[in-house]
Amino acid sequence: MCGIFAATGESAVADVLVEGLRRLEYRGYDSAGIAISGKGGIAVRKNVGPVGALATMLESEPAYGECGIAHTRWATHGEPSARNSHPHCAPGIAIVHNGIVENHGELRQELAARNAQFVSETDSEVIPWLVREELMRGEKPWAALQKAAARLSGSFAIAMLSEDEPGEIFAIRKGSPLVTGFTDGKAFLSSDLNALAGIARHAIALEDGDSARITPDCIDIRDHDGRIVNRPLLPVESRIATYDTGVHEHFMAKEIFEQPEVAARIDAAYHDGTLMEQLLSIDFSRVRRINFVACGTSYYAAAVARHWMQQHAGIECTVHVASEYRYEALPQFYSGEVAVLISQSGETADTLAVLERLQHLGMPVLGVVNDTNSTLARNADMALPLMAGLEIGVASTKAFTAQLMILAHLAIHATGRRLGAAASPGRLRDQLASTPDLLAKALLCEEGVIETARQLGDARSAIFVGRGPFQALACEGALKLKETSYIHAEGFAAGELKHGPLALIDEHMPVFALAGDQEMMPKLASNIREIAARNGRIHVIGDREAILSMKDVATGAITLPSAPDLVRPIITAIPLQLLSYHAALQRGLNVDRPRNLAKSVTVE
Ligand code: G6P
Repeated sequence: MCGIFAATGESAVADVLVEGLRRLEYRGYDSAGIAISGKGGIAVRKNVGPVGALATMLESEPAYGECGIAHTRWATHGEPSARNSHPHCAPGIAIVHNGIVENHGELRQELAARNAQFVSETDSEVIPWLVREELMRGEKPWAALQKAAARLSGSFAIAMLSEDEPGEIFAIRKGSPLVTGFTDGKAFLSSDLNALAGIARHAIALEDGDSARITPDCIDIRDHDGRIVNRPLLPVESRIATYDTGVHEHFMAKEIFEQPEVAARIDAAYHDGTLMEQLLSIDFSRVRRINFVACGTSYYAAAVARHWMQQHAGIECTVHVASEYRYEALPQFYSGEVAVLISQSGETADTLAVLERLQHLGMPVLGVVNDTNSTLARNADMALPLMAGLEIGVASTKAFTAQLMILAHLAIHATGRRLGAAASPGRLRDQLASTPDLLAKALLCEEGVIETARQLGDARSAIFVGRGPFQALACEGALKLKETSYIHAEGFAAGELKHGPLALIDEHMPVFALAGDQEMMPKLASNIREIAARNGRIHVIGDREAILSMKDVATGAITLPSAPDLVRPIITAIPLQLLSYHAALQRGLNVDRPRNLAKSVTVE
């Protein structure tokens, strides 16, 4: 999604801005642009398409200066085009903006009536014109930005250049992240801390409502009430994370194949339960209900965790999509109620809105989050790190299995707290310890998956079914397939088929049956037979025994290693991820950056 990068104190700032934008590319975008304060005023270069196209443009139309702002845009208001891409300008002002200005319609009318000249269809373009009006009233740029921002509804992270103060960057945020960074005689600003790795020695995250004035030697921050504040220094990685795909062709493949290593890292850190004890300030022996909240793939991890928590720890759980839960009428909470918010990025706008809402209501919030410097990690009452490493492919893979690993450890911890040794938490931990090895074995199914992807041919739809936790995996498998291959796919509880989806079945419909729940195997088998009776093309995904039990009705099979109960849902993710990867490749699609999607969804 949209990304901001800005720098001052750099002798050739254009190159630094382009490098900064490259580091934001993984978030997903459709156009890119920069503005530089130079001798002749502010120069703007922007273009639809990749950052590489902007870099080429800069070769023929260079822009010189030491201070600049840059942006990757993911279209919300107005099509992807050079005109709609950022920076947006008013005389003497250039801004870049992440977020959405919800009242842009009325502001546009009001400003146009006072001679503002809009050239784009974006909501963001009202911002420079609001700032300009404040400047005309005699405000200095920093105060003008604060006053302009006070007129905006919605969420924003804004970086601004003003011809009145070349060499300085002004910034303000509400609901969208911004991080400043500095090193000797240079200062930076970005919407993503990872973009500062290796170039800034220290970083400071702006808090909600903060604004900043950034010069090469000094970063001043004011809070929402205009008081100068000191915010804590954050560690910055000294080296930029490897943005290469290694021996793989794509980040998605690299991340799929990293999963055994990630699982081993997690198990080493969480296995003996000490880390969980240190990080959690919840006494699970008193917890009466857990409310899981997340978006996308993280939501399906929550849906699996619900089964584990209820089955092992006996704690009632609810699972919610954050975009709904942030507005839903909420029941009266129990005193022993907690929320678990799951997010790879820790910056998903809807999930953060839920965080704010629940904290306001006094409910303890546990974050399960990959980016440990993210807003969720910093602001949740406590956070469990996913330890998956930077995930670049838009379709989440290793973060999903890392979430499952951590949530399984959380369920074991809660089980031990509530039921003590009688519940054999040690046995469950030993089961989980076999995950890295079993993930590695599961990856051996790739060849079979390539063939299955081929058999999909030009299928336009696919169905995934499962029971118990495998229903959630069916939904995750369908999400993965539609994200990367654009094949319409749905996941269902297998028992629900006869209540509607069975009408979709004919000889052209591929159906993936996730045969992982051993107790429910006979039930799944009869659901599968109902599909076979209607000529559906059934692919069974499970271990040898499960596949044998459905041999007579299956068109195809993907074999997984035998695994303990707790581990089976985790390894079942592998063929689903590989299927979506290979289906996309076979269709010639960009697997790492599917159309219309963004890695970090920082707008509502
Ligand atoms: C986007 C990504 C998904 C991800 C979802 C939630 O839609 O494309 O892969 O699952 O956001 O993101 P989060 O960072 O909160 O887990």
